[in-house]
Amino acid sequence: MLRRLAHHQPEGFAFTPANQAWAEAQITKYPEGRQASAIIPLLWRAQEQEGWLSKPAIEAVADMLGMAYIRALEVATFYFMFQLHPVGAVANIQICGTTSCMICGAEDLMEVCKRRISPKPHTLSADGKFSWEEVECLGACANAPMAQIGKDYYEDLSAEKLDWLLDELSAGRVPVPGPQNGRYSSEPLSGLTSLKEFDSGRTQYNASVQAAVDIGDTVRRIDGTEVPLIVSWRRKEAEDVPSRAADEPAKAASGIAPKAAQALAKGKPELDVAKPAGVAEAEPAQTVAGPDAEGTQPAGLDAPRSGAADDLKIIEGIGPVLEKLCHSLGIFHFDQIAAWGPSEIAWMDANLKGFKGRVTRDKWVAQAKLIGDVGIPVFLERAKTNDY
Ligand code: FES
Repeated sequence: MLRRLAHHQPEGFAFTPANQAWAEAQITKYPEGRQASAIIPLLWRAQEQEGWLSKPAIEAVADMLGMAYIRALEVATFYFMFQLHPVGAVANIQICGTTSCMICGAEDLMEVCKRRISPKPHTLSADGKFSWEEVECLGACANAPMAQIGKDYYEDLSAEKLDWLLDELSAGRVPVPGPQNGRYSSEPLSGLTSLKEFDSGRTQYNASVQAAVDIGDTVRRIDGTEVPLIVSWRRKEAEDVPSRAADEPAKAASGIAPKAAQALAKGKPELDVAKPAGVAEAEPAQTVAGPDAEGTQPAGLDAPRSGAADDLKIIEGIGPVLEKLCHSLGIFHFDQIAAWGPSEIAWMDANLKGFKGRVTRDKWVAQAKLIGDVGIPVFLERAKTNDY
């Protein structure tokens, strides 16, 4: 298959401010003179932002990395994961056509794509919302047949299910990814037959689906505000300058954003962006608001009691991202959540950006109280039927 740039190209390309900060941080991974090593993550982020990889985007990345355009073009045209032509405005449906999926019905899924989107792959649907292609094994063979849609996997599919998914996506809704036949992950459809004591069952969905639901980035374009930008390889640098945490000029020189430096100085988890000096600070997607907040901010702790936080993810509706947000607010224990009154709940509901209303919707306080009353094992049993 020839991989050529599209005939029609946009006028130009620019990363969003948050993606620009992310891209510049990626470049700092590599030693001086080796910045070209960042080409694949930067091209990928450009594609995540635009949906496909245009010539201006490839050239913009080459400029950032000091590369000749032809070198960047070589990379972009070599790897099939880079889409060199516009894809559906809503989603590009990638159907796995390798052995497990093929014998479990991948051809039926491709028939749906041919009927609903276009007889040929890599072609936009009439309304421009969708495109599709056949791809090689995506590593979810135990849940065959499957498709990658946006950033997530939709597994255990049937032709009817894919038809339904396209209807939902077309209507602007985003169905929950993961197994579509009721399985939690890849256990037998009838349930676990061994190692039952290791049944996680702690979150509403399996870990990857829960993360997708929490972050909400399934089919959306990635503008960089979805998750905090963590540049962990620069944390050492931050730890080397704790005494500078209160000193703004020094923070700017270190490349550590003020909030991150303060968090590190307090011993709290790094939640904010560490970025190269001179890059404007982007607003993270999940942060807390300022003084206009409703209600009363719950009292927080500087650190978990006895140095060990409770696993807040046991509460249905709290995933890794929300747990991290709670930690950033000094919330580490079930009894802290159980003690919240209406005012604290209102504050949390109003201020968890990207997760507004979650405390009430998912009954965090009732769940935390129940954990305190009956203990975790009994709670987990009752949580299976939402008995709290
Ligand atoms: S064969 Fe389809 S995911 Fe592996």
